Amino acid sequence: MAFDYFLRPMRGEDVPGVERLTAEGFYDLDLRTHSGGSPEPRMRSEVKAGNWRGRMQHLLHHDPGGCWVAEDGTGLIGVAVALKRDLTWILASYAVRPGLQGRGVGKQLLDASLDYGSGCLRGMIASSSDPKAVRRYLLAGFTMHPTMSLTGHIRRDLLPVVERVRDGSTSDIDLMNSVDRRVRDCAHGADHELLATMYRLVVVDRSTGSGYAYIEAGGGPYLLAATNRRTATELLWETLAASSPDEPCEIGHLSPVNEWAVHVGIVARLDLRTSGYLGLRGMKPPLPYLPSPHFL
Ligand SMILES: CC(C)(COP(=O)(O)OP(=O)(O)OC[C@H]1O[C@@H](n2cnc3c(N)ncnc32)[C@H](O)[C@@H]1OP(=O)(O)O)[C@@H](O)C(=O)NCCC(=O)NCCS
Repeated sequence: MAFDYFLRPMRGEDVPGVERLTAEGFYDLDLRTHSGGSPEPRMRSEVKAGNWRGRMQHLLHHDPGGCWVAEDGTGLIGVAVALKRDLTWILASYAVRPGLQGRGVGKQLLDASLDYGSGCLRGMIASSSDPKAVRRYLLAGFTMHPTMSLTGHIRRDLLPVVERVRDGSTSDIDLMNSVDRRVRDCAHGADHELLATMYRLVVVDRSTGSGYAYIEAGGGPYLLAATNRRTATELLWETLAASSPDEPCEIGHLSPVNEWAVHVGIVARLDLRTSGYLGLRGMKPPLPYLPSPHFL
């Protein structure tokens, strides 16, 4: 049955509504895909919720043309947020209110955000496993690479000593942009300025290899890139060492080419599962690289 709604550019005052909408969309997806009882609603710590809002405001500031919402008489019913860095288009957020999905709202939102990327040579999406999302991305010309996740509590007695890693700062942004370009043909640019204020940053800068990792509030990587596997492995261990023994740690969106990270997870006795896809257009899965879900 047809229903009335319209698309419009997202505004700053939409951010709290978009936050609720995406939380509902993903909780509903968890309910549909979870086997064995109801999943827990995804609880975000105050720090993580603050980071989510900060990221959204940053994208609205730098990529207003990529941020779209759908609205009907009841309020916001959908969102798509995309960014462009160098010549790469990246999808940061995409959800339609449960109950209104599968009726074409998502297609219109994705088309609007893809228009923003016209002229881009490459595209990246950290995709959920929702068949509706996967159908949309395939029809938009993305190749869907199945990904894995590693979760669990880090056993402190298994952590190796890591020596070459140091704490980083905004003075490392040039270094990080050059690692990005080497690994995925596209710098994070302005995103590093934001991420360096939100996450602890660790860096390796040696003639034998360079790289960086942002560390999640509870430990584990938010984003990691390096020029070789040895450097990436050391950075990953450093992010795991930052986890607390009581909080589970997660490494998500692992593409199969990043076996070095699977190996670290197995040594650390984390649980390996399949989870979602890395959607790519015009590029191969980057290596060694653990993408951020929002800035990839
Ligand atoms: C992904 C999402 C944003 C798409 O929005 P939407 O409004 O549902 O999308 P559309 O209705 O435009 O397109 C869905 C497509 O899947 C099809 N579809 C519907 N139910 C389906 C099912 N169970 N399995 C496979 N395809 C299905 C629809 O027919 C449509 O294809 P068509 O246009 O070729 O007919 C929305 O479903 C959602 O919020 N999902 C949960 C959150 C999520 O996973 N977000 C993606 C993050 S990467």
